Amino acid sequence: MNEKYVAPPYRIKMVEPIKMTTKEERIKKLKEAGYNPFALKSEDVYIDLLTDSGTGAMSHYQWGALMQGDEAYAGSRSFFRLEKVVKEITNYQYVIPAHQGRGAEQVVLPQLVKRDGMYFISNMHFDTTRAHVEIAGARALDVVIDECFDTETYHPFKGNFDLEKLEKTIKEKGSENIAGIIMTITNNSAGGQPVSMDNLRRTKEIANKYNITTIIDGARYAENAFFIKQREKGYENLTIKEIAHEQFSYGDIFLMSAKKDGLVNIGGIIAIKDDYELYQKCRTFIVPMEGFPTYGGLAGRDMEALAVGLQEALDEDYQRHRIDQVRYLGDRLREEGVPIQFPTGGHAVFVDCKKICPHIPYHQFPAQAVCNDVYLEAGIRPVEIGSFLLGRDPDTLENLESPLELMRLTIPRRTYTYAHLDVVAEAVIEVYKRREQLVGLDFEYEPPVLRHFTARLKPIK
Ligand code: F0G
Repeated sequence: MNEKYVAPPYRIKMVEPIKMTTKEERIKKLKEAGYNPFALKSEDVYIDLLTDSGTGAMSHYQWGALMQGDEAYAGSRSFFRLEKVVKEITNYQYVIPAHQGRGAEQVVLPQLVKRDGMYFISNMHFDTTRAHVEIAGARALDVVIDECFDTETYHPFKGNFDLEKLEKTIKEKGSENIAGIIMTITNNSAGGQPVSMDNLRRTKEIANKYNITTIIDGARYAENAFFIKQREKGYENLTIKEIAHEQFSYGDIFLMSAKKDGLVNIGGIIAIKDDYELYQKCRTFIVPMEGFPTYGGLAGRDMEALAVGLQEALDEDYQRHRIDQVRYLGDRLREEGVPIQFPTGGHAVFVDCKKICPHIPYHQFPAQAVCNDVYLEAGIRPVEIGSFLLGRDPDTLENLESPLELMRLTIPRRTYTYAHLDVVAEAVIEVYKRREQLVGLDFEYEPPVLRHFTARLKPIK
């Protein structure tokens, strides 16, 4: 019934042993971790699906490149190598490295906020992006299409901007109060869902009409390009790189967490199309934040590995296998009736926990309850993307209700096999069968910002 899933276009050269724990051990570890998998030691995790960020395997070309790092403080040869690759991929004129995505955000976003009461509009802000928007004194508004929240129904581009909502929001808030439009490709928070080229083009047209800067939050821009090739008419015969070029033509600024489609363990990128004044501001501002503008918080060797990884992520065989792994896990779960965001997106399977645990209200974090049980079942560490992550309204301090309560099973790149994904599918299916027994969670400790990383919880008896 399914199309074939392609085998890996690589063979394994080095391995990292992982160990299974007993259920008794996991019950103890999870309790000690305050029922928050972020606090687990990775040694106590068998299959780590917390994130695809910096958790992938590098190629032997990348390991080879590491040895060539030029560790000069200023003017490193490795910077110029990275700069050349980023310019080639984006067609942008200016490149500054950063230590990771949020490093790029903290440098660039404040430059765009000219006064109080400004807004960024995105299809959907990622959580650190939202945090940096708020730290810069602005507010973050999301205008993704409604289909995104209907997990059961197929839509090829659930990451798309709702263009009517976008224009209405600009008019309501006043175009002079919009600091920027952030195109998150793929749309991480709703399932790694792609944005179509047509939608990017139209979003840019609206931005031009109102003279608003567009920012591509492109941690997974190559996965987005691959989906466009697979799903959008007219792009089937272009290379991923050619598609990426067109994507970048609709942005003015590119912010990248290179820990995803850069295929490295650490790294970030700021690229600016042609705004020299903005580039100068970022170059100045990055020095106290991240470091001198030819290293931005990275070692020379990190920049070498990134220069290679960026090119490998554009390889079609690599992308097909990558996206197939995610599709495989999604298909296995769907066959057993587990509700997921469908179709599967780029980097993860998102399980719809509102449907699994309708008996747990949003402020008791149904998806967190499911994640914890999946850890107890088989030592797998998923992550919650729902009301626990969303946090509180910065003005009223009320718990916000997320439109979706998701468990993200995030697949690191080139790291696990289809056999590991079978273990994951079987564990999730077991938890699904006993779903009615799951209980909600309450805070034991709640930090004031980005609470999901360090909060401690307890099950409600
Ligand atoms: N933008 C998007 C779309 C992201 O997914 C992330 C990180 C960032 C920005 C921030 O980048 O982590 O390098 O500072 N996402 C990771 C995740 C953490 O697990 O989805 P960073």
